[in-house]
Amino acid sequence: MPKIDPVNLASPEFKANAYSIYARLRAEEPVHRTTLPDGRVLWLVTRYEDCVAALKDERLVKDWTSLGLELFGADNERMQLERHMLNMDPPTHTRLRAIVNKAFTPRLVEGLRGRIQTIADGLLDEVQGRGEMDLIADYAFPLPIIVIAEMLGVPVEDRYRIRAWSDAVVGGVPTREKMERVGTRLKEFKDYILAMVEERRRAPREDLLSALVHVEEEGAGKLDEKELLSMVFLLLVAGHETTVNLIANGVLALLTHPAEREKLRADPSLMKTAIEELLRYDSPVETATFRFAREDVELGGAVIPKGDVVVVVLGSANRDPELTPSTEALDLAREPNRHIAFGLGVHYCLGAPLARLEGQIAIGTLLRRMPALALKVPLESIQIRPSLLVRGPVALPVSF
Ligand code: HEM
Repeated sequence: MPKIDPVNLASPEFKANAYSIYARLRAEEPVHRTTLPDGRVLWLVTRYEDCVAALKDERLVKDWTSLGLELFGADNERMQLERHMLNMDPPTHTRLRAIVNKAFTPRLVEGLRGRIQTIADGLLDEVQGRGEMDLIADYAFPLPIIVIAEMLGVPVEDRYRIRAWSDAVVGGVPTREKMERVGTRLKEFKDYILAMVEERRRAPREDLLSALVHVEEEGAGKLDEKELLSMVFLLLVAGHETTVNLIANGVLALLTHPAEREKLRADPSLMKTAIEELLRYDSPVETATFRFAREDVELGGAVIPKGDVVVVVLGSANRDPELTPSTEALDLAREPNRHIAFGLGVHYCLGAPLARLEGQIAIGTLLRRMPALALKVPLESIQIRPSLLVRGPVALPVSF
């Protein structure tokens, strides 16, 4: 059985070997029990069928407070940003998701195509003369954060501050100690969001933030202030921490699979299946967020006791040979592709249509405008970001 040291789940060593460790876990102990330094038990679910079952299982709930559990100690400040849909179960989840659902439908998102293309071109214009860039800092990070900031009406210039706050949440393994450390950063983030909300209360604009403030002001239990702050927090974090990795992991996969890249360059009509395959092959969200057993739950031969944390490893499920033949190979024309990179069930990614569009435009534009794109450093030197939740390189130096 592979040795899984839970402290190291987010370490560079674990990240570098994650896929081979997952393959052994799927074969030898598909639902694996591990313990965090603070004593919290985590169950890693690694097989495709078990992951699908877990994501649909109503006994695995998101709202830990409903089970009387404390996730972040007595950190009240953090709780002000935690009352969002991804931490809720129906019916609260249903109510919160319905408020923003319309803004993220494929039809509405399609209306952003022209603007996203302009942003992609603008970012490449800035680096074109240099002949090299860090694909993350210069392209994969700014693109999605500019898009979500513009939708919400958050100043685009604040993107580096938002990134630092967001990094505090997403980096590392969420132990109690880590949560106490990030408390201060989260208080700043909360105050920042609150100030924008107060500004919109005084002077509404034509943006999603004003629309959300309007829903809050309507009262009738539709959206309280904590839920409003948490919603903006979730959209800002989920709206960029993920797509940045789709673009970066996607480009890296293409650079290391020249024949597939050439196929896509020669036939851009492959772009849709290509994005699905890139999402599967190196999934931007490596593990789904924590789920909590409401009662003892049997899964994949293990019994998960009431109150324990279940971590559905999407990145492992998507490499499981049960899902599709030759999962270790990159096949941009793969169809069907039933990957679960966007999760499944009621929490299925709200931003999936937007992420797909951003991915198609970002990668398509890059291949078209920079046909000589190449890695500037040896592949082995690329570090994967230390995070339990997301998966993507820290930096990706390229020349073109
Ligand atoms: C490639 C990019 C993306 C990937 C791989 C991704 C992945 C995911 C996954 C796996 C979940 C479910 C997590 C769980 O069940 O624990 C999720 C939920 C969510 N995502 Fe995304 N996401 C992406 C982009 C976006 C974007 C651009 C937005 C824009 C706002 C977004 C907003 C959300 C929200 C609000 C939820 C919570 C939905 C709910 O609880 O009902 N995501 N995402």
